[in-house]
Amino acid sequence: MAIAGDLHGDWLDDDHELLIQLAPDGVLFVGDLGEADVRLVKAIKNLNIPTALILGNHDRGYDLTGELLRLQLNILGNIHCGWGLRNWQSPKIAVVGARPCSAGGGFYLSPEVVGVFGPITLQESVNRIVLAAEDACEAMPLVILAHSGPTGLGSDADSPCGRDWRLPAVDWGDKDLELAIDQIRKKRIPDLVVFGHMHHSLKRGNKARKTFFEDRWGTIYLNAACVPRRKLDKDGNILHHLSWVQFLNGHLDYVSHRWFRNDTSIASEEILLNRSNRSLV
Ligand SMILES: [Fe+2]
Repeated sequence: MAIAGDLHGDWLDDDHELLIQLAPDGVLFVGDLGEADVRLVKAIKNLNIPTALILGNHDRGYDLTGELLRLQLNILGNIHCGWGLRNWQSPKIAVVGARPCSAGGGFYLSPEVVGVFGPITLQESVNRIVLAAEDACEAMPLVILAHSGPTGLGSDADSPCGRDWRLPAVDWGDKDLELAIDQIRKKRIPDLVVFGHMHHSLKRGNKARKTFFEDRWGTIYLNAACVPRRKLDKDGNILHHLSWVQFLNGHLDYVSHRWFRNDTSIASEEILLNRSNRSLV
């Protein structure tokens, strides 16, 4: 299954064609698509691949009313899974969405989110995520899709959700998501929590962020926010970033960051998890 990190408008026809040619079993978008770019939202909606998406803080439209946010949600329909559940039959995966349009930093609702969803409290947000997970099919892997990851993954600048643009470095994750995962875990262990928002390259010190974390219960946390998500190889060919996850017998088995050429071949790969030591494709 493919995971597209924060696009920030960097989703051109060749990205779209690459995804179609790769034909993954499913694709997850972690949000920050393109500043309420309706054309891009429609293109993603029309992908003929099982798709789940959560909008990010840059998708909120900045109109104070939520009108542009509502428009995007209407286009996306059930592809958008914020505070909701999608029990996919093919591939067999249950996707639970966290709070839409999060900007990290604990808990904050923008005026646009309030305009669409109302003045949701932190506890109400926790309850919505937990309730969605309770209805997830137990036979399927449980994937939580968020724009910002949860608090609790570290407070260094290079932590998966660490604040890197201002000192001191702090844990900039979502508190409601951490509390929800704590509660969900009492009934079942989520297989994967995937998110974006906190870009891989840090603002200070020319360093890279840690993008992978496994907690003591075996849940994998994956930051997919490689920005920019295209680069050139030494011959000037365009490479596209996608994160990649694979499941085996109902459990997460393989996680990596991949750079693809336009012809779908893999130019390079950073393997983060390979539980069954599968040989590379
Ligand atoms: Fe973001």
